[in-house]
Amino acid sequence: MPEYIDFFVELLGPEHCFYDEQSLEFYSYDHTENLSFKPLLVVKPENSEEISQIVKFCNEKTIPITTRSGGTGLMGGALPIHGGIVLSMERLNKIIKIDIQNYQAVVEAGVINYQLQQALEPHGLFYGPDPSSWGSSYIGGNIATNAGGLRAVKYGVTSASVLNLEVVLPNGEIIWTGANTLKNSTGYNLTQLFIGSEGTLGIVTKAVLKVLTKPKTDITLLIPFHNLEDSAKAVTEIFKSGLLPCSLELMERNALEQTLLHLDENSIILQENVQAHLLINFDGNSQEELLPLLEQTIAVVEPFPTEEIYFADNETDKNRLWELRRKVAEIVKSNGYTIEEDTVVPRAELPNLIKFAHQLAEKNECKVVCYGHAGDGNLHIRFNHPKYKNSYNNPVIHAMLYELFEYIHSLGGTISGEHGIGLLQKTFLPIVFSKANLQIQKNIKKALDPKNIMNPGKLIPD
Ligand code: LAC
Ligand code: ZN
Repeated sequence: MPEYIDFFVELLGPEHCFYDEQSLEFYSYDHTENLSFKPLLVVKPENSEEISQIVKFCNEKTIPITTRSGGTGLMGGALPIHGGIVLSMERLNKIIKIDIQNYQAVVEAGVINYQLQQALEPHGLFYGPDPSSWGSSYIGGNIATNAGGLRAVKYGVTSASVLNLEVVLPNGEIIWTGANTLKNSTGYNLTQLFIGSEGTLGIVTKAVLKVLTKPKTDITLLIPFHNLEDSAKAVTEIFKSGLLPCSLELMERNALEQTLLHLDENSIILQENVQAHLLINFDGNSQEELLPLLEQTIAVVEPFPTEEIYFADNETDKNRLWELRRKVAEIVKSNGYTIEEDTVVPRAELPNLIKFAHQLAEKNECKVVCYGHAGDGNLHIRFNHPKYKNSYNNPVIHAMLYELFEYIHSLGGTISGEHGIGLLQKTFLPIVFSKANLQIQKNIKKALDPKNIMNPGKLIPD
């Protein structure tokens, strides 16, 4: 029986407090590598006021709180490494308002991304961020990591769509961070401070989000390249020609090969001489509007050796391609590629990054697979080391990743584009931040959470 259980049972009712082995085991994992840390207790509050009471209590007793959203994080952000309580946001799942006049949605933090998209659809609206995990990740988790997704290249990552946040601070007080306006130059930007803060500064309970008119149509192209680096070079050329795709994803052969094996149905034939694919989507309001964009793309990639370009304009074919792309991470992980990086560089540096990732894998006798949001210069690099399945606490993998991040920094890039820092990457922050910068971040954490109860051991280096 966890200590202080009476307080939680009285506040939430016994049906919302869990300390049986099965529950503790379930909440000991997220999608990060093969890591498991059990909490002492899992609580499932229903609203901000209950969360405020919980946080006040934990602050007084110095009990660590790990807030958990959909549990799809890849950097260990939701793992309760210091025990304490896991505070699951699953019951804060209401869409409070869709404000058609102002193009805003007000949601509780436990709303699943895809459910919001579905609720907006009948109004002809959509919410920009669409991480691969959108079927199960929560808006609150997307905010915690500043999640991106497949169409971030045109519609931005989470930070571009959040207008205002309700937050329970580490002392239990509840604040709104800003205003429900499209512009705001009023004081420090606390809204943006909480976005990407991974539950270390407080608990986001509600969000006011910017939504957009959904374009009436779209078209998808799959371009098979003979050479991996060429596919990355073509990305730069596409943007230089003035095109702005809604999505521009790169999948190297190995990623596609592994994923195709797991799908029952697919219409892609992977030719022998193909080393990478660009998967591109253009959206607009008519096929006539999209046609010249396709022609322009074909002209841009023409100098690069490719196989025939595949076009998908019907819903079935398009969905099949995008579902395939969304499944890559899960499938390569199940094949032993547990160590996932979320590197991001200025877009034109992508060919260098891809080359380096492969050289690094070869030197360390690992397998590697690269895929991701090439349009954003954001590349997921997954390693499969024959000896080590996790990067956590592993000096060999640590040295390898250190080399990768130093190189990325030298290209003007950084460690994470959309997954966050969490448990796994905090030791690398000194590569990309000066001492003075890191000290500011530590000071912010201390100012808001002096007793270090909010997701301790994450993001900020020890
Ligand atoms: C993706 C996740 C891993 O892009 O970010 O599929
Ligand atoms: Zn991604």
